[in-house]
Amino acid sequence: MSSESSAQTGNTVRASASADSQTLDVQLPADKELVLKVIPMPADCNANGDIFGGWVMAQVDLAGSVLPSRYVDGRMATVAVNQFIFKQPVRVGDILSFFSSVTRIGNTSITVQVEVYAERFRAQGRYIKVTEASVTYVAIDDFGKPQKIIKN
Ligand SMILES: CC(C)(COP(=O)(O)OP(=O)(O)OC[C@H]1O[C@@H](n2cnc3c(N)ncnc32)[C@H](O)[C@@H]1OP(=O)(O)O)[C@@H](O)C(=O)NCCC(=O)NCCS
Repeated sequence: MSSESSAQTGNTVRASASADSQTLDVQLPADKELVLKVIPMPADCNANGDIFGGWVMAQVDLAGSVLPSRYVDGRMATVAVNQFIFKQPVRVGDILSFFSSVTRIGNTSITVQVEVYAERFRAQGRYIKVTEASVTYVAIDDFGKPQKIIKN
C-alpha cells in the first residue's frame, strides 16, 4: 500500500518529488557511525500528513545516546539540544538512518552530532538528508548529579 500517496494530495506529491530530485543521492557520512534505523508509521504523523517533528526529535535523542553510552558507566541525561535542523520533511514509510559522531568530551558531558538520512518510499537505496542536530548528554550518579566520565 502506498501510505505516502494516501496521506497527501496529488499536487503535494508532485511538488515533493521535484524537491526530492534535487536533494536525493547525497553521500552517507563516512566519518559517522550508523546508530539507528527506523521506519515512521501513520500514527507518527502531524496534521500536514508529514511526520511530527517531536517524533523525529525523540528518535534523534535515542540515537544520539548510543555513542556517549560507551563512555559512561551508568545513567545519562540529555542536558541540551544545541542545534536542531529539519532540512526536509519526513514521510510515512521512509527508511530513516541515523548517523552519529562524538564532537566533544568534557568532564561530565559528551556532545554528539547526529545526521538523519531518508530513503523515500519507492526510492530505496537513494538518500536524502532530512535532519541534523547537536545534542549533549551528561553522565549522572544514582542521585541524578553529574559525575565524571571515566572511560576514554
Ligand atoms: C543534566 C543535569 C544533571 C546537569 O546538572 P547541572 O547542575 O546543570 O550540571 P552542571 O552545570 O555541572 O553541568 C554538567 C555538564 O553539563 C554541561 N551543560 C550544562 N548545561 C548545558 C547546556 N545548556 N548546554 C550544553 N552543555 C551544558 C556542562 O558544560 C557540564 O559539562 P562538563 O562537565 O563536561 O563541562 C541537570 O541539568 C538535569 O537533571 N537536567 C534534566 C535532565 C533531563 O531530565 N533530561 C531529559 C529532558 S526530557
